[in-house]
Amino acid sequence: MTDTLEIQITRTQQSKLQDVDLSNPVFGKVYSDHMFMADFYNGEWKDLRIVPYGNLQISPANTTLHYASSIFEGLKAYRGENGEILIFRPEANAKRLITSAHRMCMPPVPEELFMSGLQELLKLDQDWVPSAPGTSLYIRPLQMAMDPYIGIRPSDTYSFMIITGPVGPYYSKPVKVKIETHYTRAAPGGTGFAKTGGNYAAALQPALEAQKEGYDQLIWTDAREHLYVEESGTMNLMFVIEDKLVTPPAGDSILHGITRDSIITLAKDQGMTVEERPVSIAEVIETLKGGKMQEAFGAGTAATIAQIKTIAYEGVDYELPEVESRKYSNSFLQTLNNIKEGKAEDPHNWIYQV
Ligand code: COI
Repeated sequence: MTDTLEIQITRTQQSKLQDVDLSNPVFGKVYSDHMFMADFYNGEWKDLRIVPYGNLQISPANTTLHYASSIFEGLKAYRGENGEILIFRPEANAKRLITSAHRMCMPPVPEELFMSGLQELLKLDQDWVPSAPGTSLYIRPLQMAMDPYIGIRPSDTYSFMIITGPVGPYYSKPVKVKIETHYTRAAPGGTGFAKTGGNYAAALQPALEAQKEGYDQLIWTDAREHLYVEESGTMNLMFVIEDKLVTPPAGDSILHGITRDSIITLAKDQGMTVEERPVSIAEVIETLKGGKMQEAFGAGTAATIAQIKTIAYEGVDYELPEVESRKYSNSFLQTLNNIKEGKAEDPHNWIYQV
């Protein structure tokens, strides 16, 4: 790594902020004025810099364009009650990026570099953090191979960057999901646990087919037998069955979600029984039919807690109880929001103040 964490800053000549409606931002459409960048070459991360947000110049032979050598993260910053800027669990994202890097044969971005770049970027673009209810600044760190080489081998050069943008909810209403028993998102020994672009690209076609049938997302099932539910592509899956929080274990085919981990921690804090264990489709359908499934929701940074209203399986739609009646997930969401906005105690030191 570089000897010092000196970051060169080039400010934009023309801020775009006045053109943006921060009270109602749409997810993933608008990006803040600046981005952080660092390059890896000759075996070191160098040239740490913040520059105006803009396009990259890439060789058409760039190995990432051909072979998907990219990993990324997603985290959020919130505007606290006194105007302060609070980032939720950034160290956890820095660590997960390193885990993804190992799986994808990439040089890890040191946690210190990740945190320094993030801190300086948010200091500079602090006016972009919205304060309206349900809004936040989405932060997207991204690492990609940069060699202009179309042979197959790990690259010698990489770029790391962080872009940000104000966002509202990813799902604006409770979602309808379909249990997928033909296509596979991830297999044992594969890259399902890594936050790598290819996982998402390969999920597009099945998700689109489900959307045509009227569903918002899929519930992926295990690659071997399609008998156990795994995750939902944009989020981890959680169920409340007979007052217990039940969720598939975060093995090698499921993303180790930071929101998932936070909800498990909050549930245990409240004395709730948490079961991280295989969840079969048969159990999901049986508990839905027998009225024992009280709640089902997705958990993710972008999605936060996305209530599931319908689960479809083999052509049948099973409806879940009204969202208003869901005492556990509504309370997790409220507690998480309060912690993120600095309105509640933060017993697990999840908040990082810029
Ligand atoms: C996130 O939740 O931050 C993600 O990266 C998921 C993505 C589908 C928006």
